[in-house]
Amino acid sequence: MARVLVTRRLPFPALDRLAAAHDVTVWEDDLPPSPERLRELVADAEGLLCLLTDRVDAALLDAAPRLRAIAVYAVGTDNVDHAAARARGIPVGNTPGVLTDATADLAFALILAAARRLAEGERAVRAGAWRTWEPAGWLGLELRGATLGIVGAGRIGRAVARRAEGFGMEVVTSRPAPLEELLERSDVVSLHVPLTDATRHLIDAAALARMKPGAILVNTARGGVVDQRAVAQALRDGRLGAAALDVTDPEPLPPDDPLLDAPNLLVVPHIGSATHATRARMADMAVDNLLAALAGEPMPHPA
Ligand code: GLV
Ligand code: GLV
Repeated sequence: MARVLVTRRLPFPALDRLAAAHDVTVWEDDLPPSPERLRELVADAEGLLCLLTDRVDAALLDAAPRLRAIAVYAVGTDNVDHAAARARGIPVGNTPGVLTDATADLAFALILAAARRLAEGERAVRAGAWRTWEPAGWLGLELRGATLGIVGAGRIGRAVARRAEGFGMEVVTSRPAPLEELLERSDVVSLHVPLTDATRHLIDAAALARMKPGAILVNTARGGVVDQRAVAQALRDGRLGAAALDVTDPEPLPPDDPLLDAPNLLVVPHIGSATHATRARMADMAVDNLLAALAGEPMPHPA
């Protein structure tokens, strides 16, 4: 039996398997532990099941001398300092594959919502501002024949491309097309790259300036992939037609963040993988990773 820290309640059957095999402590609060609290909590942990809201850096690992396994309950593991974990011989696992369709669905929901101005229309109806059916009212982008640029053609990007084909869109991917060409050609740009040093602020003011006037930007990857100040400015200038974001930096955005005042912005609370089926499968994979590593075996889903 090893001591395992789980940094949030995960109400899925997989946790029973973990608790049957190991001595599990669960952080019961609704909000994540502070970095200081997390350092205290890992002091005697051999296994860590953490969320993307937990920063797993060298300072945390130094506070966890017995740690032998880190299972991240996410596919993106930019919250982990991989070099620091590697240097200490601690394997890191993630949950690839099972959230591909859920995340691609959400990306497509955001594409449709931005293209057809759903959030704005809904607000107008509730505010009593919609007076009658108008021939040229609420016009948006027709997806059939429009070009979707997919930045990052991994599992999720390819799943978005399959959906786009069903809608009659033309698809351009950032491999093989250079990013500049993709930005210039696309009516909708959807981001599907992990956050790394190479992709941080990949979509900056210069990238936004290359996009077609009035184009739509969709981000279901990580907030840090876009320069949010540049996005807010491009929305205000009307050069960017709309931005639909599942992810921001930080999360959540402070209520007074200037991005929230920008026009034609739709933002939802990081729900790409949030379906009942997917979150349960992610718990299975995270638990499988921990059980394997704590038994001295390779993780089945190494990050
Ligand atoms: C969610 O953002 C994930 O990386 O799983
Ligand atoms: C990352 O898992 C991706 O599927 O693109």
